[in-house]
Amino acid sequence: MKTIRFGIIGAGLMGREFASAISRWCHLLDLDFKPELTAVCDKNDAILPWYKENFPSLKLVTGDYKTLLADPNVDAVYCAVPHVLHQELYVAIISAGKHLIGEKPFGVDLKANTAIMDCIRRHPEVFVRCSSEFPFYPSVQRIGKMIEAGAFGPIIEVNASFRHSSDLDSSKPINWKRLVAVNGEYGCMGDLGMHVCHIPFRAGWFPRNVRALLSDLVKQRPDGKGTLVACETWDNATLLCESTDAATGQPFPLTLKTQRIAPGETNSWSLEILGMKACARFSTKNPRRLELLEYTGKEQAWREIDMGNETAFKTITGGIFEIGFSAILMQMFAAFMHELVHGKPVSRFAGCATPDEAAWSHRLFTAALESQKQASVVSL
Ligand SMILES: NC(=O)c1ccc[n+]([C@@H]2O[C@H](COP(=O)([O-])OP(=O)(O)OC[C@H]3O[C@@H](n4cnc5c(N)ncnc54)[C@H](O)[C@@H]3O)[C@@H](O)[C@H]2O)c1
Repeated sequence: MKTIRFGIIGAGLMGREFASAISRWCHLLDLDFKPELTAVCDKNDAILPWYKENFPSLKLVTGDYKTLLADPNVDAVYCAVPHVLHQELYVAIISAGKHLIGEKPFGVDLKANTAIMDCIRRHPEVFVRCSSEFPFYPSVQRIGKMIEAGAFGPIIEVNASFRHSSDLDSSKPINWKRLVAVNGEYGCMGDLGMHVCHIPFRAGWFPRNVRALLSDLVKQRPDGKGTLVACETWDNATLLCESTDAATGQPFPLTLKTQRIAPGETNSWSLEILGMKACARFSTKNPRRLELLEYTGKEQAWREIDMGNETAFKTITGGIFEIGFSAILMQMFAAFMHELVHGKPVSRFAGCATPDEAAWSHRLFTAALESQKQASVVSL
C-alpha cells in the first residue's frame, strides 16, 4: 500500500471537500494507494480549527504556503485558491517538487496558464493534473466507453453545459468569484468552463473556431456593508464552436454553455451527444438517469436507464444506490492518485483533466472574449 502524503493549500469550500474525501477513504475498495493529510495552509485562521479537530494526521497547520512547501512530510498538494493566485502558487508547488492537483481554471488568464505550463515542462518529474470531477458520474463513464467504442457513429452535434442560478438573486452580496481582479476576465467561463470542456476535449473534439455570446446581466451587487459595488464579470456564456469528428474528418457544431443565471437550475452539469448511430443525454439534475437512443434503422426511441453506483473505482456502496457530488470528487481524487502511482489512468475517461486540456480551455476562453468584443467568429 503506497501512502501519498497530501498538503492542502486553500482550505475553503473545496479544501474541505478534499479533506473530507480523505477521511472517508475506506469507502473505496481494492486500491494499492491511500492519501494521508499531513499539512494544511490557509491565510484565513478562522477556517483552520475544523481541520485541527478532525484530522489527527495533521503535522503542520500554517498560514504561509512556503512553509508547507518546505515540509518534507508533503508529497503532493491539492490547491484550491482564488484564480488570481493560481500562477504564483502552482509554479511554487511544482518548483518545490510536489505533485499537484490544482483547481481550474489553472491560471487566471492565458498568460498565467502559459507560465504554469512552462513550469510543468521544466519539471517532468512532477505529476500535475487539473481538477474536474463530472466525468466520474457513472452515466458519463458509460458515455465515455461509448465514445471509445465509436458507438455514436458520425457525430451530428455535441452540447455541454454547466448552469446554476443563485446569481438570479441580485441582492446576493458580491464575492471574489464576481470580481475581475480576482476571478479574471473569463467570468463564468473561468469558473465553470473546464467542466464543460473536459469530455469533448478528452474525446478529441477540440474547437477550430468560436462565436461567443457573453452576458453581463447583473451590473452591481451589495458589498455586504450597505453599498452597491460594480459586478463586472460575465454571468453567462454561450460558445458556439466548430469542431471536427476525427473518425470522418467532418465538422460538427459543439455548443458549450456556462451560466450563473439559469433560472431553475441549482447546479446542473449536462452533456448531450447526437450521432448517426446513437445519441446520449445526461444531466446531474437527475443523477441516476442516462438517456440513450440507439438507431438500428427502424423506430427511433429514447430509453432511460437508472444507472446505479457503477464507478471507475470500486466502492462499498451497493450497486443500486445513486451517486452524488462528494462521491464523484472522491473518484476524481482516486484517479489522480492512481495515475500518479501507476503512470496511466484506469481508462481514457477515468483520468483527471490534463494540463494540456486546461491550456486548450484557456485558448478557447481567450478566443471567446475576442469573439464577444468583435461580434464575430474567432479561429483557434
Ligand atoms: N471542482 C469544483 O467543482 C470546484 C467548485 C468550486 C470551486 N472550485 C475552484 O476551487 C478554487 C477555490 O474555490 P473555493 O470555492 O474553494 O474558494 P473559497 O473562497 O471557499 O476558498 C479559497 C481559500 O483560499 C484561501 N486563500 C486565499 N489566498 C491564500 C493564500 N495566499 N494562501 C493560502 N490560502 C489562501 C482563502 O482564505 C480561502 O479559504 C478555485 O480555483 C475555484 O475555481 C472548484
